[in-house]
Amino acid sequence: MIDSDKEMQGSKAPDKAIGNTEPTPQQSRHDLERTEMNVYDSERMADALAPAGFTETDAMSDADLIILNTCHIREKAAEKVYSELGRVRQVREARRRLGQDSVIAVAGCVAQAEGEEIARRAPAVDIIDGPQSYHRLPFLLEQHAKNHSPVIETEFPAAEKFETLPAPKPRAAPSAFLTVQEGCNKFCTFCVVPYTRGAEYSRPVTQILDEATRLGERGVKEVTLLGQNVNAYHGIGPSAKAWTLAQLLGALSAVPGLERLRFTTSHPNDMSDDLIEAHRDLPKLMPYLHLPFQAGSDRILKAMNRKHTIADYLRIIDKLRTARPDLALSTDIIVGFPGETEEDFQETMRVVETVQFAQAYSFKYSPRPGTAAADRTCQVSEDVKANRLDRLQTLLRAQQTAFNRSMTGSSFNVLWETNGKKVGQITGRSPYLQAVHAEGDSALLGRITPVEIVSASQNSLQGVIKARDAIAI
Ligand code: 5AD
Ligand code: SF4
Repeated sequence: MIDSDKEMQGSKAPDKAIGNTEPTPQQSRHDLERTEMNVYDSERMADALAPAGFTETDAMSDADLIILNTCHIREKAAEKVYSELGRVRQVREARRRLGQDSVIAVAGCVAQAEGEEIARRAPAVDIIDGPQSYHRLPFLLEQHAKNHSPVIETEFPAAEKFETLPAPKPRAAPSAFLTVQEGCNKFCTFCVVPYTRGAEYSRPVTQILDEATRLGERGVKEVTLLGQNVNAYHGIGPSAKAWTLAQLLGALSAVPGLERLRFTTSHPNDMSDDLIEAHRDLPKLMPYLHLPFQAGSDRILKAMNRKHTIADYLRIIDKLRTARPDLALSTDIIVGFPGETEEDFQETMRVVETVQFAQAYSFKYSPRPGTAAADRTCQVSEDVKANRLDRLQTLLRAQQTAFNRSMTGSSFNVLWETNGKKVGQITGRSPYLQAVHAEGDSALLGRITPVEIVSASQNSLQGVIKARDAIAI
């Protein structure tokens, strides 16, 4: 599949293949977050296609099925899809010259939002598959093979997808994503999610626990629960009563093998007391939280339809830090929302100064067609947006570097995930989601060991492994 966030896969039958490329370091948080959901979705698509004989390939030129897994939250997402389709078409033409052929599918949010338009503008596309229908890919392929005409499928509810998808197939990584919730009812005026991913839906508890148990059985140590509005989770529990995310995290803490839990992305208004207390009471819940505040001015927050004030946000941060004093925070911030004045922007800077983020992702506002703020007449000029983003990012970079440097001399557990770039080096994640490098052998991959941090930079930590097994810290 080829994800519009650069995650790339193709599919090939019967040794039909699917492949992946990693997000580039320059990608914004925004891209990365969509990539998390898209990685999960792409893996589930691969799982759904496996019984039909498909496997993943890195090379699009090998693929019998090329899936463009798109994300509409990105700026000019649709345009990027059309230009990517140009490249895909060339690959298919080259394959046809060799007597082979490829089916081209567009999946994900752009497919959902612009299905008919894609079919009109890009007749090379064979299958258009919205985010709730990727379990139906084998069926859509059959339909297409029978009718030789484009198949569009964008009308399915989330529940059916989760009920129908096969069990995730084993993957080597010691950390995994698990979608527990999709969609959003909040309608922030800048955001396309409620239109592309649809209404909020929470997967039932048992389904999630089953999937988590399978992950644990196959050696996964860390699970990140995903949802566009993950802390609004309210899935049906075993006795037909809805569970909160805190209850779900409690149950996941008991799943054998799982040592670390995370969740993303949250909305301040759903940061309930039980979830705050979970940060105090659940040792497996990592002390790191991504909690977007978007803008520092109450006037702009109102125009964004965020339904919280900055005082509300700061109160939640206080409670969280009382519950878990070493909690590190990350956030999303938009500059240059329509009507934002220099004074409003200064309030954003003040919130950043007050909270001190370990990491943050910041964006220039960009109008997304169909959202309420897109047509507002008081748009901020590109120059002003660029200048504000620059000042904000300077401050955020300094905070990230300071946070990383504050780790020097301390010890904590690291989950080792991959071989490093240099021979004899391995790379993992701290409890605070920092990248940690150390000298170590690949037998440590998938294990959690204590590490003493010896130096730090803006983007990573360097450590020395103190023992080959985790310690209680
Ligand atoms: N313009 C700029 N940033 C946006 N985001 C969402 N929509 C827009 C937009 N129209 C940012 C928000 C959100 C993150 C995933 O992307 O900060 O939290
Ligand atoms: Fe988008 Fe707002 Fe929903 Fe987050 S809470 S997904 S920003 S509408």
